[in-house]
Amino acid sequence: MRALVYHGPGRKAWEDVPKPEIIDSTDAIVRVDATTICGTDLHILKGDLPDVPDGRILGHEAVGTVDAVGRGVSTVKVGDRVLVSCISVCGTCRFCRDGHSGQCLGGGGWILGYKIDGTQAEYVRVPFADTSTFSMPDGAADEDILMLADILPTAYEVGVLNGNVQPGDVVAIVGAGPIGLSAIMGARLFSPSHIVAIDLADTRLEAAKRFGADITVNNSREDPLEIVRSLTGGLGADVTIEAVGVPATFELAVKLSRPGGRIANIGVHGEPATLHLEEQWIRNITITTGLVDAYATTTLLRLVASHHVHPGLFVTHHFGLNEFDKAYDVFGRAAETGALKVVLSRSA
Ligand SMILES: NC(=O)c1ccc[n+]([C@@H]2O[C@H](COP(=O)([O-])OP(=O)(O)OC[C@H]3O[C@@H](n4cnc5c(N)ncnc54)[C@H](O)[C@@H]3O)[C@@H](O)[C@H]2O)c1
Ligand SMILES: [Zn+2]
Ligand SMILES: [Zn+2]
Repeated sequence: MRALVYHGPGRKAWEDVPKPEIIDSTDAIVRVDATTICGTDLHILKGDLPDVPDGRILGHEAVGTVDAVGRGVSTVKVGDRVLVSCISVCGTCRFCRDGHSGQCLGGGGWILGYKIDGTQAEYVRVPFADTSTFSMPDGAADEDILMLADILPTAYEVGVLNGNVQPGDVVAIVGAGPIGLSAIMGARLFSPSHIVAIDLADTRLEAAKRFGADITVNNSREDPLEIVRSLTGGLGADVTIEAVGVPATFELAVKLSRPGGRIANIGVHGEPATLHLEEQWIRNITITTGLVDAYATTTLLRLVASHHVHPGLFVTHHFGLNEFDKAYDVFGRAAETGALKVVLSRSA
């Protein structure tokens, strides 16, 4: 089969590799019908995650058809159409039983396209298939459900729920990439009074408006602190969601918060960020961080079915599975191309 193989920073190739086989009895082999590229894949290609070895197949998001199952798989059958989550769930360890599978101790967690071969391939081995896949709802489009593999649960759990967005809140979201936009979509479910989206790229801010941001701020030209304070009687945002992953945006997120406010960090950080505890100790803020656990995926599937969440809004570009070079190029130049999520599918 063919797969997108990582060969060290800046190097990847769509090449022939052996088709994956069942290794553990709880595995399934899934034929990939549609997959996509995540900002985290770009981090890997930049060399930000040095523990990813040469030879790793990238990708941690897919929708596909089950091709084979191990003897220990009981609910997933050959021919089933499934969503493959970015988080694998052993289902039996302490963290999985508490709903914190991102921290799985039993060999799950974020492993696809990182610790084991991933989904940017014609076939993928999915460990713990019963607990790490979701059956595709009847009539749903592959590309809509694909958005539930990572970005929607990530922003909903780590941003919106950790930030405890409440009706009437002013919510400031720093970063309007796919994750920030998903946070807008998720926050709207709770009827905040204002969502303020902050980004350096006008293309992303235009997308933020389409996703339901009330106010957009280009922080290369405007001062987000002034705008958020003017909305809140000088206090600051009730909830601030950091969706970029650089020191400046974490520090901005803290500054934007009101006393007693909640700051939910989603960004993957590659270097230290400063927490000005000498200013913040007295302000009763709560800061949360997290890796997605995917415990909200079933909730989000219901919200897609009831048309409260519209994942189709993310999909800006379509490619065939053999067009990874083009797809990475378009996704990697998102500020110019307007790319949000690119979908690579068998049928494109
Ligand atoms: N915690 C998790 O489980 C998890 C899961 C998936 C992704 N992530 C992380 O979430 C972050 C966002 O992901 P994404 O796919 O949306 O990334 P992205 O790169 O597509 O989007 C980031 C956005 O931030 C904007 N930006 C950059 N610097 C800025 C600044 N100084 N001020 C304001 N805006 C700025 C960019 O213009 C871009 O629109 C990444 O760090 C990603 O690795 C975390
Ligand atoms: Zn991801
Ligand atoms: Zn576990």
